[in-house]
Amino acid sequence: MSKFEKWIEADHTSKPDSEELDDTDPEGISNLFLDTDPLDTFERTYTLPEGRGEFTMSVVGHKQENGQTLSSTGLTLWRAAEYMNSYLLKRPWSSTGESYNAMELGSGIGFNGILLSKLNVNGSTTLTDGDTDTLENLVENVERNGGGCEVKQLRWGVDKVERVWDMIIASDVIYVPNVVPLLFDVVTAGLSEVGVFVLAYARRNVKFEMVLEEAEKRGMVWSKEETGVDGENVWVFRKGEGLSEIIVKTRTGREIRLGVKLSDTVLKVKNKLGAVEGLVLPDKQILLMKGVTLENEKTLDQYGVVKGTTIFYRLQDHTGN
Ligand SMILES: C[S@@+](CC[C@H](N)C(=O)[O-])C[C@H]1O[C@@H](n2cnc3c(N)ncnc32)[C@H](O)[C@@H]1O
Repeated sequence: MSKFEKWIEADHTSKPDSEELDDTDPEGISNLFLDTDPLDTFERTYTLPEGRGEFTMSVVGHKQENGQTLSSTGLTLWRAAEYMNSYLLKRPWSSTGESYNAMELGSGIGFNGILLSKLNVNGSTTLTDGDTDTLENLVENVERNGGGCEVKQLRWGVDKVERVWDMIIASDVIYVPNVVPLLFDVVTAGLSEVGVFVLAYARRNVKFEMVLEEAEKRGMVWSKEETGVDGENVWVFRKGEGLSEIIVKTRTGREIRLGVKLSDTVLKVKNKLGAVEGLVLPDKQILLMKGVTLENEKTLDQYGVVKGTTIFYRLQDHTGN
């Protein structure tokens, strides 16, 4: 009996869009039940830093061409995982310095998490996934490569995040639109204030703009760290300074609670009021604080705005709404 709770990915999400995949079997002709030898061994040799020699990783999963027929996408290897490993190898690792409490989301066959555990020698590495069959295969792959990392079940939107991590990595986990907020809920809860969330993105049926919107809502900041082909990159997200809620009061006494960054310009706030609250175009808005009109290019903190500050909204013709 499995030590993991029964949870089958296919019951909760759909597959990455086959039209967007490097799919050698776009019509789904191959079928894993007809394949007498459905498994494959993915082997890569990496040079470890500080002259620690070479590490040949060998992980077992289903053949990539059968990806569309599997009950979980975690039973084979997906292309963003290759970008992730090339990024991980470029990070500065040292057996005496860099160490992280690191965690992987949606580890699949463990192609990234296992390498991470060999780089993060001073820290701890936890590999997670939601799908039961994937987790069982993952445990075997970890053992096959000498252990050194923990495997846990973590289902986004189901399991509570019990602790925080300095580094969270995830590859090719962006393919179902409604899962993106669940994934970011886990990251928001699980990332330490100084932590990094490393995401290797492959172009599927979710546009990367949606990922950025989700990060922005949570006040995160990001940078592109590894350039892949055709908009498929490795991105690093950090918790920003966080959103502070301010109150915008209109002439009629309506109070709008708005999440802003204190480093936002006044113009950005006006745009937000337009986009989020449906107020008039920024060039018709006037924002006031203590009787002073706020200038578009200045930032909120330049005016001493803090969490909970009330600013006043007027229209240029002084009617407001
Ligand atoms: C496309 S695979 C990527 C696997 C691996 N990271 C790679 O790049 O080869 C997506 C992974 O996310 C996992 N997953 C999908 N939805 C999940 C959820 N709600 N909670 C936890 N894991 C989930 C799947 O089981 C699968 O292992």
